[in-house]
Amino acid sequence: MIGKDIKLAVELLNEGKLVGIPTETVYGLAGNALNESAVTQIFAVKNRPSFDPLIVHTDSVEKIHQFVTELPPKAQMLAHHFWAGALTILLPKKKIIPDLVTSGSDLVAIRVPKHPLTLALLRELDFPLAAPSANPFGYISPTTAQHVESQLGDKIPYILDGGASQLGLESTIVGFEGETPIVYRKGGISIEAIEKVIGKVQVRPHSSSNPKAPGMLKSHYAPRIPMILGDIPTHILQYKNKKIGILSFQQTFEGIPREHQLILSKKGDFAEAAHHLFDYMRQLDQMDIEVILAELLPEKDLGRAINDRLKRASSQE
Ligand code: TXA
Ligand code: MG
Repeated sequence: MIGKDIKLAVELLNEGKLVGIPTETVYGLAGNALNESAVTQIFAVKNRPSFDPLIVHTDSVEKIHQFVTELPPKAQMLAHHFWAGALTILLPKKKIIPDLVTSGSDLVAIRVPKHPLTLALLRELDFPLAAPSANPFGYISPTTAQHVESQLGDKIPYILDGGASQLGLESTIVGFEGETPIVYRKGGISIEAIEKVIGKVQVRPHSSSNPKAPGMLKSHYAPRIPMILGDIPTHILQYKNKKIGILSFQQTFEGIPREHQLILSKKGDFAEAAHHLFDYMRQLDQMDIEVILAELLPEKDLGRAINDRLKRASSQE
């Protein structure tokens, strides 16, 4: 069921049940992070491997001291600068956070999401919310309540409807190795913006073999219809015997039905492209086509995170 009833969401979460929640990045599948049975349900509903840990959501920087043993200076700067917002920080956890949430790691991933409904919800609760993106494991992340309903609707009692996620890309994940800040997942806050606050960061390329590198399996966010990434005109020739759909940055292409071409941002705006990305991938996945041809964006600002998702969506590994 979809609705805007915060009181009902509070009741369900207090009972240890799961609720779909809106955030500015993507929708989350939320449960009481301190309740092992709720956390176990999250993994089951998502069909998510237990080695892939969950992000813990709370509503203020002050509250995170209940959950972490320390907040190093650079982490504090990031929290003050970007929260509420699309930045997740890896910090040493206190015992109160179950090992199940962190897949056995001593670090917990925390963020304060920037969405009025979810912040209001978190203020009503006596516990933080563990919430992965509310999609079946490996599929495209949901950016509307309807996306969540169509895939998980029969498995969870309620989805809080906060409209389309404003950003449309998951949070950026930052951790520290010694003093060095490391970006483990590119996301809604650009590396350029982070570096303005704390100086140079390292970016870890994703890995499918090392689960410590945050859930960064190579094939992820993937539609069912094969997606081919590269120069679209070249691929139109190469796939001329197939029914083609197109996901382009700014333009349309000759010879392909217009209704099978989705343009991320005609004016070339990264934020607009990010906002449309997952929704358009889902729309293409519903079309009567056999292959999706997509192209990379310029590799800067949010373009980097968008390109990361496009590469994973098209990966066959
Ligand atoms: O924007 C977001 O981050 C959304 C919204 C709902 O907040 N959440 C989200 O969660 O994208 P999820 O579970 O789809 O991706 C979280 C990533 C996972 O890849 C996981 O491996 C990593 O964060 N992660 C979580 N806890 C971690 C930890 N303790 N250590 C390392 N990586 C962690
Ligand atoms: Mg996810």
